[in-house]
Amino acid sequence: MIKHFLKDDDLSPAQQEEVLTLKPGKALAGKAVVVIFEKPSLRTRVSFEVGIAQLGATPVIVDAQTTHFGRGELMADAARALSRYADAIVIRTFADSRIAELAEYATVPVINALTDGYHPCQVLADLMTIRQHLGGTAGKTIAYLGDGNNNMANSYLLGGTTAGMHVRVASPVGFTPAEHITERAKEIAEQTGGSVTLLTDPHEAVAGVDVVATDTWTSMGMENDGIDRITPFLPYQINGELLKAVPNAIVLHCLPAHRGEEITDEVMDGPQSVVFDQTENRLHAQKALLAFLVDGKE
Ligand code: CP
Ligand code: NVA
Repeated sequence: MIKHFLKDDDLSPAQQEEVLTLKPGKALAGKAVVVIFEKPSLRTRVSFEVGIAQLGATPVIVDAQTTHFGRGELMADAARALSRYADAIVIRTFADSRIAELAEYATVPVINALTDGYHPCQVLADLMTIRQHLGGTAGKTIAYLGDGNNNMANSYLLGGTTAGMHVRVASPVGFTPAEHITERAKEIAEQTGGSVTLLTDPHEAVAGVDVVATDTWTSMGMENDGIDRITPFLPYQINGELLKAVPNAIVLHCLPAHRGEEITDEVMDGPQSVVFDQTENRLHAQKALLAFLVDGKE
């Protein structure tokens, strides 16, 4: 049975814990991993390329503009072709139906490097960062402020509850999480001792939390949807004033940051920010994930 990682809860709580503690060494020596980008990237691209090389495997990075996808090649055909060359396929794409088709036809593990719906590799790195700074995840509370209906919000809801966290999402009306995501997150939380709380008041959301997180208000692909993604979000900015209530909380941002929008310079560059540890942990978390899924762990 091939194991894919398309969304956060594709790893059970025990599997997530295993990935977050795995030290993979050269677990993929002699293998190859293809990494496809249908959206821009800096961190994901470099962390996968470097990480795959550190595992002893060959990274093959493919930009969608140089493929046949724009000319109508089916994901199903690409999946079967790439499975003949590579031991895992990593992809950043748009609709989750594209990665689902790839996974259905691939005969090697498929990893989600960001879709419209989820960013599960990022949340693995975030959980690793929380463990590093706070000693664990179970029972800790995270408040995510901003677009509650994007990939990061969805992944915090599913991945955070898998890790036993209390996940709060504070977003403006009209940008709240989808019901099927919150229902699934609540189911997971019931097993792990976590919880899910949706709020509209950012101050209420951060009261007493261990972690404050945010993301861009305009995700890739939403730039020209005609929706005002600034005005309704202004009260959800992570700034010095908001953090006065939680001086010991750590601050996460998956990057790229839109300084002056969802986060201020003062916070990004301030003592509560652990965003560059978080970004480093993309490398460690993805190496562990690859080793776990390709089953070359040492
Ligand atoms: N956080 C993240 O996925 O960054 P990139 O879009 O630069 O890969
Ligand atoms: N929600 C953002 C995350 C970027 C890493 C986006 O999809 O653009």
